[in-house]
Amino acid sequence: MAGRVSGKVVLLTGGAMGLGKASARALLAEGANVVITDIDETAGRTTATELGCGFLHQDVTDWARWQEVIAEVETAHGRLDVLVNNAAITVFGSVMDISPEDFRRCYTVDVDSIFMGCKAAIPLMAKGGGGSIVNFSSAAGNKPSPDLAAYNSAKAAVAMLTKSIALWCAREQNGIRVNSVQPGTILTPNVESVIAGTPDPDATRAAFSVAQPIGRMGEVDDIAHLVVYLASDESKFATGAPFIVDGGLSIA
Ligand SMILES: NC(=O)c1ccc[n+]([C@@H]2O[C@H](COP(=O)([O-])OP(=O)(O)OC[C@H]3O[C@@H](n4cnc5c(N)ncnc54)[C@H](O)[C@@H]3O)[C@@H](O)[C@H]2O)c1
Repeated sequence: MAGRVSGKVVLLTGGAMGLGKASARALLAEGANVVITDIDETAGRTTATELGCGFLHQDVTDWARWQEVIAEVETAHGRLDVLVNNAAITVFGSVMDISPEDFRRCYTVDVDSIFMGCKAAIPLMAKGGGGSIVNFSSAAGNKPSPDLAAYNSAKAAVAMLTKSIALWCAREQNGIRVNSVQPGTILTPNVESVIAGTPDPDATRAAFSVAQPIGRMGEVDDIAHLVVYLASDESKFATGAPFIVDGGLSIA
């Protein structure tokens, strides 16, 4: 099947690497017109050149920049069909380890950005008759760890924020669907570097793998295919839902 998102204009945050880059690649392969954004300008431009898509430099925590980015997409493409809020950071630590500043920083990047992205994008998407918003939550938003106080709760907030915005869009009948994705541990360069930074990387890799009943970490395509489905009209009856793709992590 090709062309599943043919002609759709997609804005995807944090597209320089990892799941964002893989999702952008999959959307392009299915015919979308993709603009990625990232706070890392060098990596973002390199990825955009490699994939053959647009790039805008953006810090997703900056409300003024969100408004500019949406205006730039409208000027360049005249419409916006899909917003993928992928950019995020992982802040490790228990309630006693994390400073109030680091806790706040996790929420600003992981939650506030999604509120701002939806708020900025919805008017343009509605003007074009609707579309799909895909917000990156995490299996960590379902399954708590004593050492992920900020990230667990931020990703749970993303799933609930998604539901609230989905209901608002439904009430407005603006044609916009809003869903979240909840990946398990996916072997991205970010996760590779976390593993490499632990005292015993082999043991950490094994622990990450067996934590998921399926017995391995996910691959980026496991999530990229889900993003294509949610971006496409195939998912036209789905809204407000958390899409769990985690090798069984959340039910173990
Ligand atoms: N990799 C996993 O195992 C996993 C599991 C569950 C959920 N997730 C979620 O999936 C998404 C992508 O994860 P990943 O592993 O590919 O992450 P990553 O760290 O590899 O990529 C995140 C991208 O976001 C960008 N970014 C960070 N802060 C930004 C900001 N303020 N403004 C704009 N861009 C910013 C980074 O530069 C980077 O390119 C995240 O939302 C993450 O929480 C990942």
